[in-house]
Amino acid sequence: MSAHAPIVIVGGGIAGLVTALAATPASVQLLCRHDDANDGASVLAQGGIAAALGPDDDPEKHARDTMIAGAQHNDAAMVRWLCAHAVNAVHWLQMQGVRFDRDTDGSLQLGREGGHGHARIVHAGGDASGAEIVRTLCAGVAQGGHVLRRSEMDTEALMLRGGAVCGVRARDARGAVHEIEASAVVLATGGTGALFARTTNPPGAQGSGLALGMAAGAQTRDMEFVQFHPTALDIPGRHCLPLITEALRGAGARFRDDNGRLLMAGMHPQEDLAPRDVVARHIWRMCQCGVRVWLDAGAVQGDWTKRFPTVLAVCLAAGIDPRRTPIPVVPAAHFHMGGLAVDHHGRTSVPGLFAVGEVACNGLHGANRLASNSLLEAVVCGNRLGTLLAVERVARLRGTTRSVERGAALPEARLGALRDLLWAAAGSVREGTSLRRALRVCAPWRGDGWQARVACRLLEGALQRAQSLGAHYRSDTIGASSAMRRRMGASA
Ligand code: SIN
Repeated sequence: MSAHAPIVIVGGGIAGLVTALAATPASVQLLCRHDDANDGASVLAQGGIAAALGPDDDPEKHARDTMIAGAQHNDAAMVRWLCAHAVNAVHWLQMQGVRFDRDTDGSLQLGREGGHGHARIVHAGGDASGAEIVRTLCAGVAQGGHVLRRSEMDTEALMLRGGAVCGVRARDARGAVHEIEASAVVLATGGTGALFARTTNPPGAQGSGLALGMAAGAQTRDMEFVQFHPTALDIPGRHCLPLITEALRGAGARFRDDNGRLLMAGMHPQEDLAPRDVVARHIWRMCQCGVRVWLDAGAVQGDWTKRFPTVLAVCLAAGIDPRRTPIPVVPAAHFHMGGLAVDHHGRTSVPGLFAVGEVACNGLHGANRLASNSLLEAVVCGNRLGTLLAVERVARLRGTTRSVERGAALPEARLGALRDLLWAAAGSVREGTSLRRALRVCAPWRGDGWQARVACRLLEGALQRAQSLGAHYRSDTIGASSAMRRRMGASA
């Protein structure tokens, strides 16, 4: 390895951008699949960042809500650490130039989302938080001299020497192959939502970084825990659906059926603002029974063009004025709690290989992520990892370099079949027979494309975990824990 090999970060969403900025003054190459920042899930994030900023709030309360939402499957030390650093993360973003929305008295506006006992979500541009943060961080990366951003680069392989990752091989838009030596490789490639028939994620969220890590032998963890968001805009026949932010329910929107009946009434003490897995599962069941589900946002006060410009725009584009008409919604795959197993700093089980953001699983989110903790994780964990990499040098053995390949992508028709398979077997409500059948169908596809290898790992995890926990609900399991029954309320 050259003494001056850069840190290579794969993925230009918030986790990758923060890691790159925090690694200063070390030299960084940021490899992005597209030529702008609009390809990842970060830019679509609407809610914001959770932080205990309110007068009656504190990090312990934030941590408690995170653990309850996560069904106590969380790494408690990691949760305490994250929540203790949340306020500083908001200040750090402000120092980078992010302009969070303020009340008329100048204080930060705090929104409320599902599972939170307090209003604690800071947001920017109303519901355009992700876009504002990405825009600001991209500007910081462009100004900082230590980061070279290389766009339209598809990372196809990891290079290993002496058992440690020492670089990547990437293909540019013209098909030219680039081998890049690295002092460390960070995967910040996002989630797997686009492997499901309906998702709030962008089409590229197919687990490409997970597949790369798996090819190098990195351990995975909690792969069965997939979060479904209860409110994607119901556009029949579409795979990637616009998100209808949970913050709308925080501002008074309610679920109703065709007859105007409130759907979450009596289902959970927090009703429409119950933890996301509870709400999504109930809405999923309603949809499976043929009930059309609506989000009635008639009670939402204020100027939508300032508070919810993104939701307003996507609804108007679909011919719905959400200020006057209920919004048709369906659940959709939203966030992967599982991923490449990492320690508290972001180290995978393979020396030289790191992971941060949704592709990583550090145990923070447990079995179900608390709303608006994902951008928070990206900022806090990205900062810690970048700072570490600026000083840490992974010891390397001499020897020949070999590469491990992510491999070919599934042909489009097979990818469509895989999405339908996962949706049917590994959605919000699962049971053993369908999971086994799906695994039997999917297993022979593993040689055809990396998405099938990721999907099989997820199905195996779901089969092995016979008990319901958080977002992983097994309708065929007898004796779901009493904690789970409490979380489910009357719908258990
Ligand atoms: C939302 O705005 O509803 C999503 C926020 C999140 O994923 O935490």
